[in-house]
Amino acid sequence: MPYGPQWRLHRRLHTSLLSVQASKAYRRLQDMQSKKLLQDFLYTNNFSEVFYQYTSDVMFTLAYGNGQGKDGSDHQRLHRINEMAMFILKTASFGMTLLDRFPFLDMLPHFVMKWRRMAEDLHYQVKGAYIECCRSGLQSSSWNWSHAAQQRSEAKELPWEDICYSIGELYVAGIHTTKMVLENFIEASVLYPDMVDKAQAELDSVVGTDRLPSFDDMDQLPYIKALISELLRWRTISTIGVPHTVIQNDEYMGYFIPAGATVVANQFGMNMDDTIFEEPAKFNPDRYLQNTELPVSAFGFGRRSCPGSRLAEGSLFIVISRLLWGYKISSSKVNKNLLNESSSIPREATIRVRTPRHQQIIEKEWADSKIDKIDVLGDIRRGLQSNNMAGN
Ligand code: HEM
Repeated sequence: MPYGPQWRLHRRLHTSLLSVQASKAYRRLQDMQSKKLLQDFLYTNNFSEVFYQYTSDVMFTLAYGNGQGKDGSDHQRLHRINEMAMFILKTASFGMTLLDRFPFLDMLPHFVMKWRRMAEDLHYQVKGAYIECCRSGLQSSSWNWSHAAQQRSEAKELPWEDICYSIGELYVAGIHTTKMVLENFIEASVLYPDMVDKAQAELDSVVGTDRLPSFDDMDQLPYIKALISELLRWRTISTIGVPHTVIQNDEYMGYFIPAGATVVANQFGMNMDDTIFEEPAKFNPDRYLQNTELPVSAFGFGRRSCPGSRLAEGSLFIVISRLLWGYKISSSKVNKNLLNESSSIPREATIRVRTPRHQQIIEKEWADSKIDKIDVLGDIRRGLQSNNMAGN
């Protein structure tokens, strides 16, 4: 969607649902879902699946509430969308590269451009699914983004279908990004055991073994915070950023940039710039402790920067601090010779609880937190109401 009044309305909706206060209120849900994640790791090493469960549960619950449609149909519908989104991420980048090189391809008739027809079909399917899910969200008695959006002024200025699409966009945007960063955390943990030792020493001294780390500990855990910044730098999620269009003629360092030109931020290049990051291929959280001014560009730039960054940071903090607190992470597949290569990603890892005491706490916390999601959403609504932004 190009920059303009419509885009501004969508953006306003997104930023209101993901404001500083709102993102703080959502911590209640992240707290509960991360306890479930810890419990799940007692029985499986399949970290990709557990991370997907966590991110999709958090996003689904915020977007559509506690209900899941008839027989879980909403979840299944959205699961298919997620698979399609991953397909698009892979194929669209290929299509876009060709189009950038040979713009005349864009003028070919539709029946020749198979990928374009596929994309249009997909768009209608996705839109239909988002509208269905929004309908379930509104039928649900619990607080959720569908209810909250309905109360906002943007819902009077945009067609309801567009609002549903906007909420669906948030849902999808929040799942794979956060999951990918968490997978990279597993990679870093098996490749850099010294980092894990340092993080666990910090957690043991601040938190001890009688309770889980919580959001209240954040300021006392500078190494964990530095580790998350380094994780976002070390493995760039969106290597060339999202393409932006220049809306008016501009000049940068003597170069003329005409209106309409596409500008792509070389995020990978920035993150690997050895004039800013010494030995950039190395995973080294200490660099962010030694220089707190070091940039983190993972969430993009300017008007279109990621509106979900605070929610994402909350998830990364609570999941990573709790995983490190409770588990040892290793892999027999690590090839130390590949330490500096991006191909070193271990697709398998062994995730074992650190001690029987840690297991006891993990099980107790999960058993105690088994309250209904409706209660959690009620807490979120009350938290937002005290800031006058609940929506229902
Ligand atoms: C670690 C996790 C995440 C990363 C690394 C990430 C990164 C990004 C990046 C690089 C962009 C493009 C910014 C630009 O164009 O300059 C973006 C856009 C966006 N992100 Fe995120 N994101 C994450 C999590 C989330 C979450 C949790 C949500 C929703 C709750 C979200 C919603 C969005 C939306 C809606 C946009 C489009 C913004 C626009 O075009 O106006 N993201 N994100």
